Amino acid sequence: MSIENLEETARAMVAAGKGIIAIDESNATIKKRFDGVGIDCTEENRRAYREMLLTTANLSDHISGAILYDETIRQSTRAGVPFTKVMLDNGILPGIKVDKGPQPLAGFPGEVVTEGLDGLRDRLNEYARLGAKFAKWRAVINIGEDMPSATGIDANAHALARYAALCQEAGIVPMVEPEVLMDGNHDIDTCYDVTEATLRSLFGALYEHNVMLEGTILKASMVIHGKDCAEKASPEEVAELTLRCLKSAVPSALPGIVFLSGGQSDLDATRHLNLMNQLGPNPWPLSFSYGRAMQSAALKLWSQDLVGNFAKAQSIVASRARENGMAALGRWTPDMAA
Ligand code: 13P
Repeated sequence: MSIENLEETARAMVAAGKGIIAIDESNATIKKRFDGVGIDCTEENRRAYREMLLTTANLSDHISGAILYDETIRQSTRAGVPFTKVMLDNGILPGIKVDKGPQPLAGFPGEVVTEGLDGLRDRLNEYARLGAKFAKWRAVINIGEDMPSATGIDANAHALARYAALCQEAGIVPMVEPEVLMDGNHDIDTCYDVTEATLRSLFGALYEHNVMLEGTILKASMVIHGKDCAEKASPEEVAELTLRCLKSAVPSALPGIVFLSGGQSDLDATRHLNLMNQLGPNPWPLSFSYGRAMQSAALKLWSQDLVGNFAKAQSIVASRARENGMAALGRWTPDMAA
């Protein structure tokens, strides 16, 4: 794929009023989600669930792409059509999670570094053959007593940069995701400082690894108080501080930024995105790449009757896509909630 194609794909991922649905849960993570609603985590249930999500009618009205897991990118609908074909035929870009998850960072108790670089060139080439247009690598930054360290931040940035360079070599747009976790009792200012340091390190590493920003998408966490922090920031504060942080650390050459939901409620994830877009114009399109905030309501309904509620669950997916698509334009209102 040429440089122009990378830029074109990256721009298509953040087309006006569209965002990404993240359905790239590993088998261990989707088991946790299924356990929560009493569904057996069999290969067939995982396939059926992803089919429900991906075959939602008119999904591409507000969804530009979907991030898949290694098992999912090889699966097909009940009728035998590969998911990637269904997606491409319906104007949805197939994406693929390629990291192998966080592992403890030796010498830095409590900190993690994402693994998965070994053999990544070959895996990316295979995913490209299977139809993947973009890829995702998630780094996890924990906030706690004396953490994160500069070493932990830089180790994750270095891995993200090596991954991103390999993606572009394979003609795949890298979605770089340094997630600063909401776990903990830290306040929003601490999250701001950690997020800013993380992004500065990341963009320094991308520069040093010759990664073309015009063909890269940032998947960011919002600047927000920790889940156990007594002092909750207002939605306006979350939106303002997130924007200030991004503007201070993210080059304007980037075609777009999409957010993860990270454990925020559906309402908060949508409201925060909407507010940030209302505060624009911003240097980049700001959209969504939500996992839980796109899926949780639909999963709950589907779990009550896998066959009988298939279409009803899809209407919830369509509605969450529409809400978040409108939030990406700053035109969401609370009465749009299903
Ligand atoms: P959440 O929106 O559930 O945080 O998931 C997004 C994602 O892909 C995390 O890597």
